Amino acid sequence: MPKLLEILDGVEINASRLWARHMELAKIGAIPGGGSCRLALSEEDSAARMVFSNWCKEAGLIVKTDHAANMFGILSGADDSLPLIGSGSHLDTQPNGGRFDGVSGVLAALEVIETIKDVGIKTNAPLAVINWTNEEGVRFSPGVLGSNWFVGNISDGNLNQTQAIDGARFGDEAKARGWQGGDIRNELNLGTFIELHIEQGPMLEAHKKQVGIVTAVQGLKWMNVEILGTNGHAGTVPLDMRQDALLTAARIIDAVNQIGCSSGSDARLSVCRLQTSTDGPSTIVNKASFLIDMRHPKESVLQEMFRQCSELCQSISLANGCQSRTEQTANIAPTIFDKDLVNTLENAAINLHYRYERITSGALHDACNIALKASTAMIFVPCRKGISHNVDEFASAQDLAAGTNVLLHAMVSQAGVTIN
Ligand code: HGY
Ligand code: MN
Ligand code: MN
Repeated sequence: MPKLLEILDGVEINASRLWARHMELAKIGAIPGGGSCRLALSEEDSAARMVFSNWCKEAGLIVKTDHAANMFGILSGADDSLPLIGSGSHLDTQPNGGRFDGVSGVLAALEVIETIKDVGIKTNAPLAVINWTNEEGVRFSPGVLGSNWFVGNISDGNLNQTQAIDGARFGDEAKARGWQGGDIRNELNLGTFIELHIEQGPMLEAHKKQVGIVTAVQGLKWMNVEILGTNGHAGTVPLDMRQDALLTAARIIDAVNQIGCSSGSDARLSVCRLQTSTDGPSTIVNKASFLIDMRHPKESVLQEMFRQCSELCQSISLANGCQSRTEQTANIAPTIFDKDLVNTLENAAINLHYRYERITSGALHDACNIALKASTAMIFVPCRKGISHNVDEFASAQDLAAGTNVLLHAMVSQAGVTIN
């Protein structure tokens, strides 16, 4: 480490270049209030990918895409037979997304690699900046899809057939937009992955920290629920003779919230994407669907929440004369990151004299999938008031730079340099 510290002595990433690129990308798919909307493999996402790809090429990186349209900007090392040291996140956003969620991790990795080139350091192992496809799971469900394929959890066929909310198939869309490559997973040989991300919660800011060293991520399950009732005339059918799917959904939504509230202070449970199929006034709704997003750091508690939700959907539907169908559409176990890599990140924060703390992540990240195959950890950057998935999301240029400097030290340390 001392020799490594020497080689990085006085070296810092370019904070203004990093910030300027955030603002540049935010213009693509810009929405009122200052945020961005770039759903995966949409025209806007494709435009952002093109800008990112050009930045990689201008920096002298080789850009490759894989079957899931994940993007890799690669810088050769002294020995390219060594496992790849990767870093990155995602460029797709939520419909009401901010300028930092995902983007910061991709741009930080690019900034680190450019800094390494700028100062003339040659690492032993090759480096890569990575953009994972469809992290958010808005257009194609579920989320973290590109990294899920990368670690072998989804077959090529199932990935290609995944249908978007607008009807498009993942494979067709990835190909048509020119981002689908081959299966380059063996060739890439990703050995280490570090994801920088905004915290999306309030703890670092509240504790006046510049950097978070992420040790773990809580698990997540999604349950799609469909309630089937009967259409009827709102003026004629007595209230006790209805099979009202929307009213049943409302009763379930309230009841599952109680499950969340009684599963301990670490439990999270949200109902999203409520849709009804009857778009008419004066008609009793015959079909309602929604998604229950449940999270907990302990797999056993998460399983119990899932079981209780499933039971409640059935019993409340029956009691209201309706039928229900439930389906698990996402299932990610809690993740514990690689202890050595976490220590490397912590040492970097200490050596750089940053105020930091160890932290766990409430949000899900591609790093959870990659941790199944490679040594993985994450760096968090504080975000104002913990606001995220919101156009008001904000991280300061200084905090982004601090997190990126930690990433610089960690990537160089992992890749190794030949020092005479
Ligand atoms: O849902 C998540 O935690 C992530 O932001 N997609
Ligand atoms: Mn997000
Ligand atoms: Mn994200």
